[in-house]
Amino acid sequence: LAGVVIAVDGPAAAGKGTLARRLAAELGLPYLDTGLLYRATGRRLLDAGADPRDTLAAEAAARSLSPADLERPDLRGPEADRAASAVAAIPAVRAALLDWQRGFGRTHGAVLDGRDIGTVVFPDAPVKLFVTASDEERARRRWLELRGRGVTAELPAVLADLRARDAQDAGRAVAPLKPAADALLLDTTALDAEAAFRAARALVAERL
Ligand code: C5P
Repeated sequence: LAGVVIAVDGPAAAGKGTLARRLAAELGLPYLDTGLLYRATGRRLLDAGADPRDTLAAEAAARSLSPADLERPDLRGPEADRAASAVAAIPAVRAALLDWQRGFGRTHGAVLDGRDIGTVVFPDAPVKLFVTASDEERARRRWLELRGRGVTAELPAVLADLRARDAQDAGRAVAPLKPAADALLLDTTALDAEAAFRAARALVAERL
């Protein structure tokens, strides 16, 4: 399987990350969480007191990301979510991160998760999964995850934040969140992580 690229896209908190990481481990491929690139870019703007919609500052931040930026502990949480989604709507930011993502996957293959992997970053990937779950189930999972990290949040607020971010991600002009025409859809609403992984593995096996 060396050299194969597997694209895993879908809305926030659908379970893509867990699934993509496990698939990568199983198939012996490198794994990249591309959301981290947008999160780290947004975080640098927040740190600098800049507006995450500031096109020039956002492009400069995206171009100068270092590996250490991707390992920061403060890349998750409502503020980081919003900043990531804001910078992700800026075409120059996406262009700056595109070569980086392609370089990561091109040489040895990889499993990448994100929003536009199957549509823009690797449109020729032989396997594309589009992972979804109902809004309520995704909000419940995100709420549990926040609670596990000691963050108190109200479920309705988590649901509203998720919907706002999905609307922004799906509504933007450049590389919007949407399934590639040849993506395999995986609805994980009624599946736990183990069942979702088995279903994904079966879909991957069909295509490889
Ligand atoms: O996947 P995650 O929730 O970490 O992504 C954070 C944000 O980064 C998303 O809401 C989206 O705006 C952006 N993103 C993107 N394209 C990707 C991955 C993430 O636009 N490939």
